[in-house]
Amino acid sequence: MKILVTGGAGYIGSHTVLTLLEKGHEVEVVDNYDNSSPESIRRVERLTGGSVVLHEFDLREEERLTELFATGAYDAVIHFAGLKAVGESVAEPALYYGTNLESTLSLVRAMAASATRTLVFSSSATVYGERAQVPYVEAYEPLEANNPYGKTKVMIEHILGDLAAADDSWRIGLLRYFNPVGAHPSGEIGEDPAGIPNNLTPYISQVAVGRLASLGVFGDDYDTPDGTGLRDYIHVMDLAEGHVVALEHLAASPGIGARAWNLGTGTGTSVLEVVAAFEKASGVEIPYEVKPRRAGDLARSYADASRAKDELGWVATRGIDEMCADAWRWQSQNPQGYRA
Ligand code: NAD
Ligand code: UD1
Repeated sequence: MKILVTGGAGYIGSHTVLTLLEKGHEVEVVDNYDNSSPESIRRVERLTGGSVVLHEFDLREEERLTELFATGAYDAVIHFAGLKAVGESVAEPALYYGTNLESTLSLVRAMAASATRTLVFSSSATVYGERAQVPYVEAYEPLEANNPYGKTKVMIEHILGDLAAADDSWRIGLLRYFNPVGAHPSGEIGEDPAGIPNNLTPYISQVAVGRLASLGVFGDDYDTPDGTGLRDYIHVMDLAEGHVVALEHLAASPGIGARAWNLGTGTGTSVLEVVAAFEKASGVEIPYEVKPRRAGDLARSYADASRAKDELGWVATRGIDEMCADAWRWQSQNPQGYRA
């Protein structure tokens, strides 16, 4: 297939582009490098021996996007592009609603003006909100989120669902990612957050490599086995493979409409278990201190991963030790990320 990947230079996008190339697909990327650099794609090309056509522009430039679809003859689109920092979204809601919603609307209008009707969207477990019970099942309603970033995911899921309900030529996969971590096993590509990381494993990696002094553990008084938060960490390569099987499933499923799939392992791992796994993988001690709970955090979040298994034949195969070993290989080989 010929696939257009929005946000393909980013963390999950670059690993997915690599997997698509390895499976023999043709790939083009649109990215404005707002949170990435073309270096990730250059490394993907080196690793795979493949080549990727890069289009550098903002998805909100709808005329350019429409031109691309007029000539591109894409079989499908994977839509990663968007802003993703929860705290920043609370501080700058208009930026988040503007960027994430306008980019997606611009994309679906450009697709509607072309023959391309197959779309995979990066949703998030955050759409289950605070009231859903673990393990989260896709049929759960109502979707809700407690911050502007999460609300853009809920809104976009509704927009895409309505689009598919109005026109059955659309085939849309809503992939609800749990907590993506790790890196390609080569250590050549990985997660490269700008500034101080918000998420757990990039923070631990930067402590291990000496860029940060110690980890703050956000609360140890949750109702969980060791008191720290439980999350469903999923290796980014498992996630990348999930996109390829979702695309293949959509391609073989006329009339499917919009369908949600959880991409998670189904297992919850605590903050302290992640610290221990990372120490084992790296051989570096991670100093930490317990801090107050972070606003908006849940005690536990993990998937019921059975729909993706039953319908896509997909299961995550990599465990927390492999996630930490691969994250560490990337961080230790690239202490300053792609900027080195
Ligand atoms: P990322 O920031 O590494 O990648 C996003 C990419 O989109 C970047 O390359 C960025 O430059 C690009 N981009 C942003 N706005 C753009 C625009 N208007 N036009 C063109 N390009 C634009 O993030 P990621 O971790 O790879 O996440 C990819 C997607 O998955 C996002 O939609 C994110 O919300 C979603 N998601 C991520 C996580 C996670 O923990 N990483 C979890 C759930 C969902
Ligand atoms: C966060 C976002 C969520 C987003 C997800 C993936 C919040 C409130 N939620 O989820 O919307 O979909 O990232 O991008 O930001 N932790 C620490 N110390 C740290 C960092 C994290 O103890 O320095 C703990 C957290 O309290 C949590 C776990 O580690 O228990 C995982 O945190 P994180 O990686 O930020 O992911 P989520 O909170 O699941």
